[in-house]
Amino acid sequence: MTRRDDMTLTSSGFYVSQEARTHSDNAVPTPQAPPPDILRCAYMELVVTDLAASRQFYVDILGLYVTEEDDSTLYLRSTEEFIHHNLVLRQGPIAAVAAFSYRVRTAGDLDKAVAFYTELGCRVKRRPDGFVNGIGDSVRVEDPLGFPYEFFFQTDHVERMSWRYDLHSPGELVRLDHFNQVTPDVPRAVNFMQALGFRVTEDIQDDEGIVYAAWLRRKPSVHDTAMTGGDGPRMHHICFATHEKHNILAICDTLGALRRSDAIERGPGRHGVSNAFYLYLRDPDGHRVEIYTQDYYTGDPDNPVITWDVHDNQRRDWWGNPVVPSWYSEASLVLDLDGNPQPVVTRTTSSEMAVTIGADGFSYTRRGEEAQGEYKLGNQL
Ligand SMILES: [Fe+2]
Repeated sequence: MTRRDDMTLTSSGFYVSQEARTHSDNAVPTPQAPPPDILRCAYMELVVTDLAASRQFYVDILGLYVTEEDDSTLYLRSTEEFIHHNLVLRQGPIAAVAAFSYRVRTAGDLDKAVAFYTELGCRVKRRPDGFVNGIGDSVRVEDPLGFPYEFFFQTDHVERMSWRYDLHSPGELVRLDHFNQVTPDVPRAVNFMQALGFRVTEDIQDDEGIVYAAWLRRKPSVHDTAMTGGDGPRMHHICFATHEKHNILAICDTLGALRRSDAIERGPGRHGVSNAFYLYLRDPDGHRVEIYTQDYYTGDPDNPVITWDVHDNQRRDWWGNPVVPSWYSEASLVLDLDGNPQPVVTRTTSSEMAVTIGADGFSYTRRGEEAQGEYKLGNQL
């Protein structure tokens, strides 16, 4: 891609620059009301169609801890978590996301969330007793991008299982790391998320300046959520972290041993973006789950923004392995505050899959050399 004046090409093949407010021709107005002070992504409420099958996947195979359960709902957490849960699985008719939930710094930040989204004309619901068990006063909104977002501070504390090595598995999931959202207009989404107080860590662009994806953070890791360009609003994945790469390999071995290798969609591999080691799985409903480890610290105020060329074959897999088409095209529905699926809007700007895969697409491994397809040698199908 063409270097902008404010970008510096690094020896790793990507560009760095200092963050600026992302321009959007179709921007959501920035509210006068200040945004809530968001700490981190905290949990996702996921509707599943077969709770027993989901329990087997998330508890028996992936080893998440059960905080609480009843006939219709499972409350699960990762090893290091001290709040009530990181994942709520609720039995329902349509597999979808009911809430992307963020923890805020103080109880007073909920008033800020109400004012911020009310000024935008969004639907806002507040429940002093929480929408799910273990969580107190909460605000849920249909955000301007169509996603169901939740904010809370009060939560029950539970035991951190970090010291319970007797219970750990070889593929131990230690933290909730991030969400990933699919949206048709990435600059609009990034511009709005910056107004909400998120910082940009990395993005993928082409030489026309089209943005295909962006990674956004509150906590000082690479991200709390990412915006992936595509038909949306939809949920691309939820991601849990392990301590080490070998934990991810152990999950692959376990799935193979259980004859569940068809749950592995993509990877294991090394990301270019985020530098993390990764694996993508699909749960029994097709919800995508990433397992991820060893991204980098981003807490300084002048942390450089990394920009990848959409044609760089190493951006999504540092080893140049192909991205399977389903990873680009498939994602989960999201619900409105009444529990109905949000309509999906088609992305009209060019798609990353179209510009990098197949006869019309191209990509390179070494900048300046002849373009090649996304697929490495050996992929003739
Ligand atoms: Fe991810």
